[in-house]
Amino acid sequence: MAVHWYPGHMHKAQKEIAEIMPSIDVIIEVLDARIPYSSNNPMIAKLRGDKPFIKILNKRDLADPVITEQWLAYFEQEQGVKAIAVSAKKPEEVKQIIGLCRDLVPHRDQEGKNIRALICGIPNVGKSTTINILADRIVAKVGNEPAVTKAQQRINLQNGVVLSDTPGMLWPKVENENSGYRLAATGAVKDTAMESDDVGTYLVDYLMEAYPELLKARYDLEEFGYTGYDTLELIGKKRGCLRSGGRVEINKAADIVLNELRDATIGLISMETPEMIEAEEIEVEKQRELKADKDKDRKKKAKKRRR
Ligand code: G4P
Repeated sequence: MAVHWYPGHMHKAQKEIAEIMPSIDVIIEVLDARIPYSSNNPMIAKLRGDKPFIKILNKRDLADPVITEQWLAYFEQEQGVKAIAVSAKKPEEVKQIIGLCRDLVPHRDQEGKNIRALICGIPNVGKSTTINILADRIVAKVGNEPAVTKAQQRINLQNGVVLSDTPGMLWPKVENENSGYRLAATGAVKDTAMESDDVGTYLVDYLMEAYPELLKARYDLEEFGYTGYDTLELIGKKRGCLRSGGRVEINKAADIVLNELRDATIGLISMETPEMIEAEEIEVEKQRELKADKDKDRKKKAKKRRR
């Protein structure tokens, strides 16, 4: 799998989250609005039971607003789930989370008790920025490489809400190959074994299909190449990414497109829609079944050999 996933850390995080879950009233999951499915960690939904659940689609300032609306409606189909889109660049948007907690857990408020919220999210979605805004002070480091061991923090927000930061590290669980590319393209996961030309090609392929006008306008292209790779070559030529002899340096062209996606210079772009994901999930399920069958076969053969 191209995106590293650390089962040891996940296991520890899972155990610790399961331990504190009984004393939690509401769960807040921070997601990247450009990739709300791929930046999700399915373990949280599993451990949640039927507790109220707030999904924060952060970095909405970088995402396609039409698709963000689709995601909000999609998430809210589920019982007990409330979803909002925010930009942590605008603290007043993040502060809405407090009101949502109150709406979802009215009994604690009425009894004069603190609402106990657990905040979680994979690295780089903006969890630390969100915590600092809610706490009105710096309690979490922003923009750092995630540390491996991290003590659990409880922060009294002084407004009737006590926030617990998720213990351990949560990593995206990447079973869907497309998710790996999207996490890499948006810069959500830096620690990938993927080459930038592969990720750049994936991205340009996607943009040709989903945002052709933005791509043409940004790179002054009249037409696209036949494939994403061909288009990336055209972009490289336009941007002077050339080796001696006139060959395009694809890695350089890919880095340009990736950086300009990440800071929204190309435009407001979302990398996945609920519709796309529903189709991909069917494929993932098929692959899972295929793998299970193969594993069964392998075990049978090994058993026969041992006899
Ligand atoms: P984490 O705790 O989930 O790992 O994320 P963190 O808050 O550290 O944020 C990761 C990066 O994302 C930071 O940028 C942060 O400024 C940026 N960020 C967080 N929320 C938003 C948002 O709503 N919109 C945009 N555009 N960016 C956001 P960085 O470059 O890594 O650090 P810094 O240079 O900003 O300190």
